[in-house]
Amino acid sequence: MDIKKVVIIGSGTMGSGIAAHLCNANVPVTLLDLKTEISEKARDRIYKSRPPLLIDKSKIENIKVGNINDNFDVVREADWIVEAVVERIDIKHNIYEKIFKNRKDGAIVSSNTSSIPIKVLSEKLTNEEKKDFCITHFFNPVRYMGLLEIVKNENNDLNKINSLKNFCEEELGKGAIVCNDTPGFLGNRIGVYAMQVAMTEAFKMKLSIEEADAVFGRPMGVPKTGVFGLYDLIGIDLMADVLKSFIKELPENDPFQPVAKNIPLINKLIENGYTGRKGKGGFYRMNKENNQKILEAINLDSGEYSPSKKIDLKIEITDINNLISRKDKYGDYAWSVISKIIKYASSLVPGITDKFNDIDEAMRLGFNWAMGPFEMLKEIGVKNFFERVDEFEGNKFLEDLSKSKNENFYGERQLYTNIETLGKIRPQALKLEKNKSAITHRFKDFNIVEFTTKANALDYDSMDALKAATDKPLIIMNESMQFSAGVNLTYTMNFVDNRDLKSVEKFIKYFQDTCKELKYSKYPVVSAPSGLTLGGGFEVLVQSNFVASHTNIVIGLVETIVGLIPAGGGCKEMLWRWSQTDEAKKDPDYAPLKVFDIIGYAKTATSPVEAEPLKYLKPEDKKIMNRNSLFSASKKLLDENKNFIPPAQCKFKLSGKPLKEKMVKILEKLYNEKVILDHGMVVGIELANVLSGGDTTLDKTISEDEFFKLELDAFMRLIENKKTQERIKHTLATGKPLVN
Ligand code: NAI
Repeated sequence: MDIKKVVIIGSGTMGSGIAAHLCNANVPVTLLDLKTEISEKARDRIYKSRPPLLIDKSKIENIKVGNINDNFDVVREADWIVEAVVERIDIKHNIYEKIFKNRKDGAIVSSNTSSIPIKVLSEKLTNEEKKDFCITHFFNPVRYMGLLEIVKNENNDLNKINSLKNFCEEELGKGAIVCNDTPGFLGNRIGVYAMQVAMTEAFKMKLSIEEADAVFGRPMGVPKTGVFGLYDLIGIDLMADVLKSFIKELPENDPFQPVAKNIPLINKLIENGYTGRKGKGGFYRMNKENNQKILEAINLDSGEYSPSKKIDLKIEITDINNLISRKDKYGDYAWSVISKIIKYASSLVPGITDKFNDIDEAMRLGFNWAMGPFEMLKEIGVKNFFERVDEFEGNKFLEDLSKSKNENFYGERQLYTNIETLGKIRPQALKLEKNKSAITHRFKDFNIVEFTTKANALDYDSMDALKAATDKPLIIMNESMQFSAGVNLTYTMNFVDNRDLKSVEKFIKYFQDTCKELKYSKYPVVSAPSGLTLGGGFEVLVQSNFVASHTNIVIGLVETIVGLIPAGGGCKEMLWRWSQTDEAKKDPDYAPLKVFDIIGYAKTATSPVEAEPLKYLKPEDKKIMNRNSLFSASKKLLDENKNFIPPAQCKFKLSGKPLKEKMVKILEKLYNEKVILDHGMVVGIELANVLSGGDTTLDKTISEDEFFKLELDAFMRLIENKKTQERIKHTLATGKPLVN
């Protein structure tokens, strides 16, 4: 089955997201809605979406639009028709009738429903029609959420379902899990249950919403929006509808029922327009007082808002055992929530799936959890879990496990896909080396380094791990949300606060030496990024020999925002790349001025397509839709480069003073226009000094080590500057830039 043309009916949140993603995969797609204006508006929304739904905005015209009355003919040519209209069965039934009258023989018809069972959706179809009908449940935002649940019916031709699955994996890059027709399928059944437990336990145990979100967040391996933040993001009214549907579809004795019950505070919020971020606010709201925005949080008892308090549990990364063994209310809450989630998820095996593994995958891909409930159980340890858990009668999975006491019950991961993923090959490593910032997996012919810190921020230990792993071909990758958000600024600022600038210098020097090792050691090094690849993270990538990049990346050198300049080889490598252009061969100032512009403005790209014109990525770098394929693409690069020869060292000829003057002129103009302020000027001049080659002239050659020295000196002067320190502290505290 070839899918060459797709029609999507319903151009709301999901229809437009799916259309954009098909466009990302270069599949011709038409969006139909009640009126053409609605689909046109949808196309507009796609274009302006942030984070962008399109990998390449210039392709927006590839999404055709129309309405279901005048343009329904397009359905005749489609190989796949996706219905994504409002969640109303009468409307959906009418649309199916029309589609099946018009579709070409054998074309697949699917619904994006999140709550209507397939048996209800397909009740008016003939058996022949049912053969080609299924549910394809995408998650929002479609480009960024990895999960796609495919729900089949008993009449389906399994070969066809499989080829649809393959198409969605290979072309759309989704983790496609085929599941049964049970309420909420896999992801929402467990994910929404988990949210409800986290919420109801917070009420019961009298935690504030900030406290609950601090626990049911990063330390648990859940995105930092936690539960109340996530409620606001999804929409409190939408969640209420989702719960109604679970209450209707699930048996009365399902443990989901008690946690799905109406909560008076929530009704009140919805009635008053507090539907979350799209409304006046929700559990959190932004209040403006005296022209200042203040984030406020609701009190679950009184319903009153007061300024939100930051809760610091002092657990920066996912650490379930640390969390549940705390002897305070946070530990009690964490255990109560986690144990209930594990009990519920395991009670559904084999009822909703006989592969418990798929539940974990659905939680990782559909809710961005670091690990699913069964992985949590593995992490806690079977013995520990059963020592603490209360009754679990009738839960066959737990009853069996409590008897077998098998600590190695888990087996393989990612069973739903045939792709050789990082998760699948990890257990085959011959040796593991761990330090506090990275794990190295040593295989016979190659190594893999995974960073393991918060946002994979880099420190001395991260570099140590990389350096030690260059004794073989090396792949740098991980499964967490970010490849690396850059150098660990907290770590760096601790030295500064202790007036230990020598240690900062030692660290940056080590960073540079390590990157040199990555580039010039005798074995090839591949970086395989996904998510944030910023600052120091980008410097690691840009000095690797090969790149296999996920299409969902945010990449760039952003150091100037915090009053620094890239000093791990970022300036050097960007200058080298731009020096290879024809323009640079004609004009010695061309490349430095380009790089001055890119780094000075801290430009970032949100996809490989945007990254290439900036030369953050090269045309030959691999661009990969399916994140699961990053490992096999990286391994292939290593296999193809068995006779790897390290590149020659870079050398620069730069104009020095006259070039620096040109750059300063640009800065002065920006300063006069108030685009930059005093410290912006200072940072800009340091950058100009580096990129113009410092005290040099065109007839001299600057070696790579000399260039590294220029970067290091500028960095040290800046980090000693109080105004840079203010910028860093502000960004660490608020996540926002400080313009000073
Ligand atoms: P939406 O309300 O944003 O969009 C629905 C669109 O359908 C609107 O543009 C509306 O004009 C159009 N429409 C209504 N009747 C129509 C008809 N007869 N013919 C053509 N178009 C018609 O809804 P949303 O959120 O995009 O949801 C669509 C489907 O996806 C629903 O089944 C929902 O359950 C499901 N879903 C929603 C998710 C979400 O996060 N919003 C996530 C996963 C699934």
